[in-house]
Amino acid sequence: MNKVLLYCRPGFEKECAAEISAKAAEREIYGFPRVKENSGYVLFECYQFEDAERLARELPFDDLIFARQMLVVGELLRDLPQEDRITPIVGMLTGVVEKGGELRVEVPDTNEAKELTKFCRKFTVPLRTALRESKILLNYESPKRPVVHVFFIAPGTCYVGYSLPENSSPFYMGIPRLKFPSDAPSRSTLKLEEAFHVFIPADEWDERLASGMYAVDLGACPGGWTYQLVQRSMMVYAVDNGPMAPSLMDTGQVMHERADGFKFRPPRTNISWLVCDMVEKPVRVANLMTDWLVNGWCREAIFNLKLPMKKRYEEVTQNLAMIQERLNENGINAQIRARQLYHDREEVTVHIRRIWAAAGGRRDER
Ligand SMILES: C[S@@+](CC[C@H](N)C(=O)[O-])C[C@H]1O[C@@H](n2cnc3c(N)ncnc32)[C@H](O)[C@@H]1O
Repeated sequence: MNKVLLYCRPGFEKECAAEISAKAAEREIYGFPRVKENSGYVLFECYQFEDAERLARELPFDDLIFARQMLVVGELLRDLPQEDRITPIVGMLTGVVEKGGELRVEVPDTNEAKELTKFCRKFTVPLRTALRESKILLNYESPKRPVVHVFFIAPGTCYVGYSLPENSSPFYMGIPRLKFPSDAPSRSTLKLEEAFHVFIPADEWDERLASGMYAVDLGACPGGWTYQLVQRSMMVYAVDNGPMAPSLMDTGQVMHERADGFKFRPPRTNISWLVCDMVEKPVRVANLMTDWLVNGWCREAIFNLKLPMKKRYEEVTQNLAMIQERLNENGINAQIRARQLYHDREEVTVHIRRIWAAAGGRRDER
């Protein structure tokens, strides 16, 4: 198999393609992307056969901004016979995957492909049985073994391949399924919840999203992001001239500051989280966030960079490079990640975590 398949938000195929080409070239892996606009995926075809697996192994999935999933696939299977779609799929995987831990039959995240999801659900059952009989899948689910993916782009037409569980999204179609909490003041609450799922390992939530922590939410109204922080029993300074949802104010955990988010300064020294959803030029937001981190006003930040109509990949990479440069100049050690989340539209979400150096030179987290 010589192709890497990436799932992305429909409309962002060019950004996803530019990113995979650049990041593959950094590793001296050469190939070319195949892009079909609004398809919800990009194929990166490697010139060297074995490079697809190498790319899927060596390029950290967490470094990708525009991809929701990354897998290795072979040639497109077309015209699968209705009476037996299974045999060609098993044939494609034979000798490629052994003892896989899970099967996911998926589709691109487009309206047209939605019609195929019912079929995919039904088809999963007999296909899983056949893959188990062929030893391509284990007889039980294992999160440590490769995941077999069958990706239907049209009826009877699919890519077949696998992802490496330690370097891919654990979610079906690369999308965490989150339920909108009926008492949240806005749908954008799901953006921050998804960001927590994507950027913070589940076993670190209790420590890093702990009850009693202080947070600042810039551009908070009506309060969807503040709601997430309140749910985690944090105290929140909600900065915005607009109105906050009364239900949040009633919790007693929210201090509403009617101020300009660019001028607001931390009212205390123990702010753990800074979050920011202000609709502003990306460079202004990126600089503001960097100011907070450089000054040690917060430990971690999650914020959106709203993307322009054109040169969106360049805009993101330039801002991330600028943040990194300013942190370096100030001797700040930090971990930066960015991802276009499922709940993001024309924007990406960035997470930065400051890592404090403890006395004696040992790197430690505050
Ligand atoms: C997309 S909304 C935020 C939605 C919010 N995250 C939620 O989940 O409900 C953007 C908010 O940023 C606020 N805003 C824009 N510029 C601002 C500024 N300079 N200072 C403070 N708030 C600002 C707007 O008033 C608006 O309420």
